[in-house]
Amino acid sequence: MKLDMPTRLSPNTLALHWIVAIMMIGLLATGLYMAQTSTFGLYPWHKSFGVLIALFVVLRVAWRIRNGWPKPVGDYTSVEKLLAKLVHWLLIIGTVLMPVSGFMMSAMSGHGVPFFGFELFAHNPDPTNPQEVVALNATLAEAGHVLHRWGGYLLIGAVVLHVVGALKHHFVDRDGTLRRMLGTEVRVTS
Ligand code: HEM
Ligand code: HEM
Repeated sequence: MKLDMPTRLSPNTLALHWIVAIMMIGLLATGLYMAQTSTFGLYPWHKSFGVLIALFVVLRVAWRIRNGWPKPVGDYTSVEKLLAKLVHWLLIIGTVLMPVSGFMMSAMSGHGVPFFGFELFAHNPDPTNPQEVVALNATLAEAGHVLHRWGGYLLIGAVVLHVVGALKHHFVDRDGTLRRMLGTEVRVTS
């Protein structure tokens, strides 16, 4: 299996980065929209894609452990390197935390977790009023909710910093950081 090289990233790194990136941005946007507008029809889709992304996140973390992090393409200051590392760690931790907290909130609140039509974790109807649900563990449900909400806000901040960083490399430093993540072979100066 091909590993990353300083001049060219492996197909695994490229595929996992872009699959997770596109799904994460979609889930952050739909999550905020549906929670703020109470669009309950979107909830089963959000939960299903949220569980699906968890599978790619597991592969991605396993790949990072096997392959290590991509080496920087340029000779940057230690502050720049530290900031990039910090944001990459926030992004990876965020991609693990969001599916876990979302699952915990939905399962423990009694609303259940569907997965594209299948009931992955059953909902828990109220025996006296089957339209409503009863929490299995209200404390864990609330903890999941708080983590999911604040984790989501933190992640949006990290994604914005990350994209601004990628654009700065491309347009200001004019190095190959972004082109390498798009699959091009680049020159390395570090
Ligand atoms: C990487 C995966 C995920 C991301 C990035 C994500 C992101 C978000 C965001 C940003 C919100 C809005 C939070 C708020 O303003 O209250 C949200 C809401 C929500 N998410 Fe997720 N989510 C993910 C996975 C999941 C999963 C796996 C589940 C359940 C199995 C889930 C269930 C929910 C529910 C039920 C809400 C609505 C909460 C409310 O009504 O206050 N999410 N999500
Ligand atoms: C349009 C959006 C995005 C662009 C343009 C972009 C661009 C890039 C670039 C150029 C790199 C290489 C950095 C280097 O060589 O040191 C990178 C790495 C990385 N990106 Fe993104 N990215 C985007 C979205 C995201 C999102 C949404 C996430 C996760 C939530 C993410 C997570 C990561 C991580 C963890 C790395 C470190 C290397 C790796 O694990 O593959 N990115 N990104």
